[in-house]
This record gives sequence, structure tokens and C-alpha cells, in this order.
Amino acid sequence: MALEQLKTMTIVVADTGDFETMIKYKPTDATTNPSLLLAAATLPQYQHLVQKAVDYGKTQEGDNAAKLAATMDKLFVLFGVEILKIVPGRVSTEVDARLSFDKEGSVKKALKLIELYAEEGIEKERVLIKLASTWEGIQAAKELEEKHDVHCNLTLLFSFCQAVACADAGVTLISPFVGRILDWYVSNTSTKSYAPEDDPGVKSVTQIYNYYKKFGYKTVVMGASFRNTGEVTALAGCDLLTISPKLLEELDASSESLTRKLDAEQAKTCDLERISLDEKAFRWMLNEDQMATDKLSDGIRKFAVDAVKLETFINEKLNA
Ligand SMILES: *[C@@H]1O[C@H](CO)[C@@H](O)[C@H](O)[C@H]1NC(C)=O
Ligand SMILES: *[C@@H]1O[C@H](CO)[C@@H](O)[C@H](O)[C@H]1NC(C)=O
Repeated sequence: MALEQLKTMTIVVADTGDFETMIKYKPTDATTNPSLLLAAATLPQYQHLVQKAVDYGKTQEGDNAAKLAATMDKLFVLFGVEILKIVPGRVSTEVDARLSFDKEGSVKKALKLIELYAEEGIEKERVLIKLASTWEGIQAAKELEEKHDVHCNLTLLFSFCQAVACADAGVTLISPFVGRILDWYVSNTSTKSYAPEDDPGVKSVTQIYNYYKKFGYKTVVMGASFRNTGEVTALAGCDLLTISPKLLEELDASSESLTRKLDAEQAKTCDLERISLDEKAFRWMLNEDQMATDKLSDGIRKFAVDAVKLETFINEKLNA
């Protein structure tokens, strides 16, 4: 019941990390990432995709590094195409985390991915380019949205300043990580549990949502990474929420009656001032926020580890 009610106020998207749960839960949108690809690339039913990417890479100009990069891009796109056979909406495809501080490199990579999708017959409306919410990532998104009409999903977002910069950049969607914010506070402060309304992740997303709605930004908020159903229901009314199958089942079984917590009309009356951030102000605010600074750099490192693992696996195939 709680889940049915939530769906009347928020677009609920199953947070699926593998093909099997994707087939089972049929989310509207879904996302690829190196760990999903690495898991899938070792399964027999996807060998033809790996082979297709490798064959493509081999025909590309340049040294092994260039062929490897081409194979990786193709692999991401081929798996994205598979995902789009399951989901009716969009697929998020990530720009390599190692480009997190390289605006030009990120734009170039994103346009390459869009071009490869087009070769597979997928129009750019069905793709979201996923970028880390660093200054460079956000500026890359600005260029992609403004000049190329390519839509972006800004991730590893833990703080208000990142959200403000994303809105200014005209980003299509942000995915703030609610649970990872909570994790940090639980590990790094003496408070070990929070009521949903005091949960620092919930508070962060509430502030961002209110700011966007108050000032009429079109950037959509998709809360992600939830640790419990309390965090989810405390954000009832958010534009979109992506929720793990486990928490979806708990919500489905719950007879709790939900009230809307985030409301676009009410947001207009809230006490927030519009701010604008240049690079210096952005970096300063982010650095002042120890949690966001920690979590952003930690997230980039982890994404990079996954990218390297996948690359190592593919390099072996390429040179076999
Ligand atoms: C945006 O990226 C986040 C983080 O990876 C992901 O959980 C979410 O599903 C993506 N959103 C869409 C609409 O693809
Ligand atoms: C804070 O907690 C995280 C876990 O979320 C941990 O990885 C990190 O090292 C901690 N940071 C500090 C400054 O203690």
C-alpha cells in the first residue's frame, strides 16, 4: 500500500544492478556501469556482445590503447542497447571516472558514446550521459546540454553547491546519494542513528528539491542509494526515486499511510535564497563540506577501480 501511494506522488524506478533483476522489475530507466558490465561480460549469454565489441575495437586505427578505448566504448553502448530492449525509458551511460577532472575529455567521450548509440539506431533522447558532479563534470554537462542537446545525469552528488551548479548548467537530471550521506555521518560522528526527518541525506535532498522548485529550475531530482524505507518515505513527492528491490518489497508490504513531504507549491514559500556559483565559490563551498569532499573523491576512486577491472578483462580478450 505504501508503495502504491508513493507512486501517486513520485516516479518510482527500481534500482537494478544486473540484467536478471532488470527483467524482473522492468524499471522505466536503468543504468550501465563497469561492475554491471563486468558481471554480465562473463556470462555465456552475453559473449556475442563482448565479441562484437572486440571485433569492432580490432578494426580501429591506432595503438593498443586506442583499440582498447574503442572496444570499451562499444561495449558500454552494446550493453546499453540491451538494456533499452528491457526498459521503456532511458539508459544512463557513464563517462569513465578517470575523466572526472577533464572537461574536454568528458565532452569528447560523451559525444563518442552518443555517436555509437546512433550507429545502433538509438536516438539521443533515450540516453543520459552520466558524469561525476565535479566542477569539470558539471561544465562538461553544460556544454553537452547547451551545444549538443545531449542529456546528462549528474551523479556522486552529496552537497547543495553541487546541486546549485548543476541547475545553473541546465543539467537534465541529478541523482543525489541519500544513503551514502547517512553512511558518512554514522561513521564519522557520534550520532549512530537518525529519525528519517533528521537524516542528513534526506535533509540534503529536501533542500535541493525546494531550491529547484522555488526558483523554477527544470533539472529533475532523482534520489538514489537508500538505506531504509524511512529515508524513502521522508522524500515522498520527490520527482523520481530509484529504490532497491529489497526496499521496494518492504514498501509494498507496508500498510503505513504516506504523506507528501516534498511539494513544488510549498517549496515556493520556503526560506531559501538564490545563489550563483563561479568556479572559485563552488570549490570553496565543496571543500568546506567535509562529507561531500570525502564522498566525492571516494566515489570517483571506486568508479575508477571498477573501470580498470573491466578494462583489464577486455584487454585480455582483445589480445587473445
Ligand atoms: C542516474 O545515475 C544514478 C547513479 O548511477 C542511477 O542510480 C540512476 O538510475 C540514473 N538515472 C536514470 C534516470 O537513469
Ligand atoms: C567517514 O566515513 C566514511 C564511510 O562512509 C569513511 O570511508 C571515511 O574514511 C570517513 N572519513 C573520515 C574523515 O573519517
